[in-house]
Amino acid sequence: MGSLGLATINLPKISSPVKKPIVISTWDSGMPVNAEAWKILSNQGKSVDAVEAGAIYIENDINCCVGLGGFPDRDGIVTLDACIMDEKANCGAVAGLEQIKHPISVARKLMETTPHVILVGAGAQQFALENGFKLEEKKLSDDASKAYNQWLIQSKYQPEINIENKKQNGPFAPNFFEDGTANHDTMGLVAMDFNGDLSGAVTTSGMAYKIHGRVGDSPIIGAGLFVDNEIGAATSSGVGEEVIRICGTHLVVEFMRNGYSPEMACKKACERIVKRDPKKAATLQVGFLALNKKGEYGGYAIQKGFVFSVKSNDENEIHSTKFLI
Ligand code: GLY
Repeated sequence: MGSLGLATINLPKISSPVKKPIVISTWDSGMPVNAEAWKILSNQGKSVDAVEAGAIYIENDINCCVGLGGFPDRDGIVTLDACIMDEKANCGAVAGLEQIKHPISVARKLMETTPHVILVGAGAQQFALENGFKLEEKKLSDDASKAYNQWLIQSKYQPEINIENKKQNGPFAPNFFEDGTANHDTMGLVAMDFNGDLSGAVTTSGMAYKIHGRVGDSPIIGAGLFVDNEIGAATSSGVGEEVIRICGTHLVVEFMRNGYSPEMACKKACERIVKRDPKKAATLQVGFLALNKKGEYGGYAIQKGFVFSVKSNDENEIHSTKFLI
């Protein structure tokens, strides 16, 4: 009996229903990417198919700074990085891949047909060609070519932060600016399907004007992408070296395992980067994005300006993240 003499009923604990399916992706350019993934998710398709479809969509966009339309390295060569991970912790990645339009699909092929997880450079290209992918022309997009020639004048390697606030030069907009500095370069997306299974994909041309052969966080499982189907999934964007140093997305998922919300987990990962070297962190941008098994999501960044896109049955929105500095 309760204190008022009323019989107490053991009601089941009320918890909010899981929000699924859902897909979230980095930046406002994630909106059409989500729409593509949604075609699969809304038809009860698998999250791994949805995230691959989203990545393929953006890799096809020659005006986007992801895929072969992306910015080259300092030698004028576009090298692509991508990875994919499913609900069973199957994963595949390619790094430094040249002249192949869909690195995400090469990564998936590697995941599904070999015992390996990462292929790089010439080996990745050879694997792609052996598996029916076409060798594309070695050519920069018009925009990337203009930006690269501009950049060559000073050849200064300095990733920009808060580039969203920079005044854009009309003909070069929206992806780069009159001095050749490039806009953000990474598409990361994570999704949960009708079954509640999580997957993620990342695709990028990497940091613009990088040293030839440089690999960032994007194709590194646990850095640019991590999925744990019991807990959640996370992806990142920004200066990949800083993300790799803290195994960023694995860390975010572990924070969620310890009870943090997706947003707080992302915040704590950002704090880890800043704590290591606050002065350096003040000069760079990293953003994390996370989704948990309840369909709750959140993001956080070191600097102002990181946004992400969300698509579910309830919403189709762009969200700004909070930031540390
Ligand atoms: N986050 C992309 C890169 O560092 O290459």
